[in-house]
Amino acid sequence: MGKNHYELSDAQILWIEEMAPGKRFFGIRFLKESDQRKFTFVPGQFVFLSIPGHGEFAVSICSSPRKRDHFELLVNKVGSVTTALFGLNVGGKVGIRGPYGNGFDLSKFYDKDIIIVAGGCGAAPLRSVVNTMIYERDKYGKLYFLYGARNSQELLFKKDLMDWQKNMKVLLTVDMSDKNWQGETGVVTTLFDHVKTSKSAIAITCGSPVMFKFVLVELKAKGMADKNIYLSLERRMKCGIGKCQHCTCGEKYACIDGPVFSYNQIKDNFEAV
Ligand code: FES
Repeated sequence: MGKNHYELSDAQILWIEEMAPGKRFFGIRFLKESDQRKFTFVPGQFVFLSIPGHGEFAVSICSSPRKRDHFELLVNKVGSVTTALFGLNVGGKVGIRGPYGNGFDLSKFYDKDIIIVAGGCGAAPLRSVVNTMIYERDKYGKLYFLYGARNSQELLFKKDLMDWQKNMKVLLTVDMSDKNWQGETGVVTTLFDHVKTSKSAIAITCGSPVMFKFVLVELKAKGMADKNIYLSLERRMKCGIGKCQHCTCGEKYACIDGPVFSYNQIKDNFEAV
């Protein structure tokens, strides 16, 4: 946002929603109207959220850039800074710097069928993609959202999943079924049987490296070209500007070259993913 890459802008928590065990959904708005107006991003980009006295962490933006009056973050409570964030209430102050990373250029996907595959918290950055595609639904062919979570409590964005069904085919599965779950059970790749699309479709995926391996096998079996498969990599980002080397994947940095890569770009170094 500012000239200095590390410059923080003051922001405020607008609302907090319990999303799953240890996972909260935050609405955030900049305190200064001008900061809010200037804040533009593309789906797949991330910001750093900082809490004075505790530090900062990188987190994907999970709302659509079309939403201009605030933005949304899904935070997994995994360390001291996220724990400090969970201690704040609505109205709590945070610092934001960013956005960082390349994100998705959705205009490249116009007129194509799109298969989006998410595992666990990988649904967070992809929610920004889906919500943006729904704003301009007529620009795409068939849309699929395939999502696998550990169990029904861990399924994120349940309200969105219901809404999205009006505009796309939403297919869900959980690793472990329970009394609240009547849907499919098994890994996310079991859902590919329900996907009927052309070889020229675009695939977009975010999840664990193990999931990527199995998803890639399915996509290749459908005859999809490497250049049409996009992966959003989850890495521990520290600086966000290619300086600290915390986010390397092979010869690339997830923070500046990614986090979105086509499989074509990274297949030679896929073990590093
Ligand atoms: S986060 Fe520091 S180099 Fe990428």
